[in-house]
Amino acid sequence: MATPLTDVRDISRIAYGFMGSKALFAALNIDLFGHLAGSSKTLDMLVEETGVAANRLKTLLAALTAIGLIAREADAYRNSPASERYLVRGAPAYFGDYYRFQIDRQIYPALEHLDAGIAGDTQHLAFDSLAGLTGNPQEADAFTRAQHAGSMGPAVMLARTFDLNGSRRMLDVGGGSGAFSIALCQRNPELRATVLDFPNVIDVAERFVTEAKLAHRIDYIRADAVNGAWPSGQDVILMSYLLSAVAESSFPLLLTKAWEALRPGGRLLIHDFMLDDEETGPALAALWFLQYLWGRIDGISFSAATLAEQLRGHGYENISDQVIIPEITKLVVCAKPADRTG
Ligand SMILES: C[S@@+](CC[C@H](N)C(=O)[O-])C[C@H]1O[C@@H](n2cnc3c(N)ncnc32)[C@H](O)[C@@H]1O
Repeated sequence: MATPLTDVRDISRIAYGFMGSKALFAALNIDLFGHLAGSSKTLDMLVEETGVAANRLKTLLAALTAIGLIAREADAYRNSPASERYLVRGAPAYFGDYYRFQIDRQIYPALEHLDAGIAGDTQHLAFDSLAGLTGNPQEADAFTRAQHAGSMGPAVMLARTFDLNGSRRMLDVGGGSGAFSIALCQRNPELRATVLDFPNVIDVAERFVTEAKLAHRIDYIRADAVNGAWPSGQDVILMSYLLSAVAESSFPLLLTKAWEALRPGGRLLIHDFMLDDEETGPALAALWFLQYLWGRIDGISFSAATLAEQLRGHGYENISDQVIIPEITKLVVCAKPADRTG
C-alpha cells in the first residue's frame, strides 16, 4: 500500500502525470532518444536532425529534462541511463514501440471511456471488449503488433526462469502474437505449441511465428476461448494476460476447460497483472486492471492468493507464484493431479 498522501503537490503529480506520458510519447515519435544515442548534442544539432523548430524542441527538451528522461550539461543534452537502454530504437532492450503503439495510440485514447466503464454505460465504451477491438482487422493488427513488443521481454524472462521439464505440447490460450509460444519454443527444443485466439489476431501471430522460423512447431486455432473447443492431452496450458481481459464470470469455465484439456500431471500457467495478496497494490498492477474498463465492465482485478483459492476449488494442486515483471505481473503455476483422468 502506498503511504497516504498529505501534500497537494503529490496530488498534482498524479493529476498532471498524463502530461509526462505525452512528453515521453512525443519524444519517441520523433526518435529523440535515437538521435541522442551514445552522444551529447546541442539544441541546434537536434533541430537540424529532427526538423522540429527550435522553440518547440527546446520546450520538449526542458520537459524531458525535468522528468529525468534526458539530462543537460551546459548546453548539451544526453539520454539518461534508462532512456539510453530502453528508448533508443534498435537497442537490444528497446521498448519504445510498445509505448508508442499500444499505450499512446490505443490505450491512451481508449481511456476517454473510463468514466463510461465505471458507470457501467456499455453504449459509450471504446470498444466492445477485446473481442470488439480485435474484430476490426486494422485494430487487431495494431494491438497485436504492439502487444508483441510488450510481451517478448517478459516471455523471454519466463522462458529463462521457468523449467518446462521436457513438456512437449502447450496450448497458449489468448496467445495473441504468439510471443510466449515463440520464446518458450526457442528455449525448449522438444516443445510444440498451439496458439488459440480470435481470427484477426492469429493472422498477425502467423507472421511473427514465420519470422521466428517456428512455423513447423507452432500451429493455431482461430476461436473464442470461452465458446470454442480446446485440444486435449496438453502438457502445459498458458494463459498470459487472458483472465484480466475477460469477464469474471468466464473464470470458472476457462479453468474447467484447462483442466479438461490437460493430461493428468499437466500444468496450468497463468501470467497476468497481479495485485499483492492484501490487494492494496502495487500501483501499476492495480492501474492496469482499472484501464480495462474502457472496453468491458464485467472484468475484475485479482491477486495470486485469490486465484490460488479458485484453482484449489477446481482441484488443481502444487500452486505457486513468482514475479515476472516487478510491480506489474506474476506467474501462477499449478498442476492437475497425476492420478486424475477426468
Ligand atoms: C493482452 S493480450 C495478451 C496476448 C498474449 N497472451 C501475450 O501475453 O502477449 C490478450 C489476448 O487475449 C485474447 N483474447 C481475449 N479474450 C479472448 C477470448 N474470449 N478468446 C480468445 N482470445 C481472447 C485477445 O485477442 C488478445 O490477443
